[in-house]
Amino acid sequence: MTRSTWRTRIGFILAAVGSAVGIGNIWRFPWLTAENGGAAFLTLYLVLVVGVGVPGLIGEFVIGRRSNRNPVGAFDELAGRWYRPLGAIALIACLVILSFYSVVGGWILRYTFASTTGAYFAAPQQYFAAIDYGLGAVGFHVLFLAATVAIVYLGVERGIELSTTVMVPGIVVLFGGLAVWVSTLPGAGGGYDFYLSLDVSYLRENFFSVLPAAAGQALFTLSVGAGTMLTYSSYLGEDRSLAADGTLIAVLNTAIGVLAGLVIFPLLFSLGVSPGQGGPGALFVSLAGAFAELPYSRLVGVVFFGVVLLAALSSAISILEVLVAYLVDEHDLSRGWATLGTGGIFLVTGTIAALSPSAFGLLADTLSNVVLTAGLIGFLLFDGWVLGRLAREEFGRGAGPIAQIFEAPWYYAIAVVLPVFLAFTLVTSVAG
Ligand code: PFF
Ligand code: NA
Repeated sequence: MTRSTWRTRIGFILAAVGSAVGIGNIWRFPWLTAENGGAAFLTLYLVLVVGVGVPGLIGEFVIGRRSNRNPVGAFDELAGRWYRPLGAIALIACLVILSFYSVVGGWILRYTFASTTGAYFAAPQQYFAAIDYGLGAVGFHVLFLAATVAIVYLGVERGIELSTTVMVPGIVVLFGGLAVWVSTLPGAGGGYDFYLSLDVSYLRENFFSVLPAAAGQALFTLSVGAGTMLTYSSYLGEDRSLAADGTLIAVLNTAIGVLAGLVIFPLLFSLGVSPGQGGPGALFVSLAGAFAELPYSRLVGVVFFGVVLLAALSSAISILEVLVAYLVDEHDLSRGWATLGTGGIFLVTGTIAALSPSAFGLLADTLSNVVLTAGLIGFLLFDGWVLGRLAREEFGRGAGPIAQIFEAPWYYAIAVVLPVFLAFTLVTSVAG
């Protein structure tokens, strides 16, 4: 059977942006920003997206396009079977992330429905506490997972490419509309101040706790380290510049993340809610609670959670696709059986996370940062030391004059500087 390919370059870029833009931008990022000193965190995060995320993303693309394989098969194809364990880290990362991601996706789905009746308006705190873990959470996790499975089942072109070509522009338009509308609310200005004013002293005093959080978020937000970008680039036929595509994807992801912040912070400030409290419930308690105070509150709730749902779904499919590609490439399974089989695994692991707050916390906080960082260290060392010249050649394929300037700096960054830096953040976060 011939392997799937993207129909168009735009289709690939939108699928990759769909993977990047997700709960990480809308739920994890604003709250990390709030907890870590606002714009100080934003600044460090932007530096790390440019300095670590983008080179890392390109590092994954190089392996995927060069091999046209899933993460495990890619290493085998390029360097022999002894390197397969490097790809196994990526598969584990996918297992970890989708297991909790699907539970959050289920919460979002539930809130989209609940917004139509305003069910959470009267007592947002109690509403979330009643539904966050338990059988209801399992049910909505299963629904969210079923939607993810259905899209991946349809394939790379008819499922992933087609759906993200609709979803990603939808996210931009709806968030853009919300951001404009929110700016007209009285008191919104305090939100912009908080978000956009730089508090350098906070950053200086808390540098070593803010750094790993910002680094982990820079990887999480670009979907780097789990082999999703590797897998998506393995379906590339054309020789376009990977550096140019990677940069564009990062710019779009960051822009949509900032747009989400421009909706969330002014909204909270205009209603006098403090953005300081983090935790998994933040989006669902403070923000959802705020909707009740607004005109057209139900409509606002449905649109907001509907956008978040699209963002979550377009990320979830990219994670499932890694495991499906692995089973199809390496074990000769049909796409149908591979999708249903992996769906069955997440049915179980997600159910555990939906029933147990401690299992959920372990997956979402500690483990996901660790697996992404470990996965990326493996990819980059492979690029730098095993592929070596071939990695540079792949970087240079289709590169214009500007991208060519970055070939050597990129290579030294991914071979030496970034693995050392990532190992350092891994140690500080595990020790801290
Ligand atoms: N980038 C996604 C987000 O920000 O929500 C999360 C994610 C997707 C992380 C895919 C890792 C991954 F492989
Ligand atoms: Na997404």
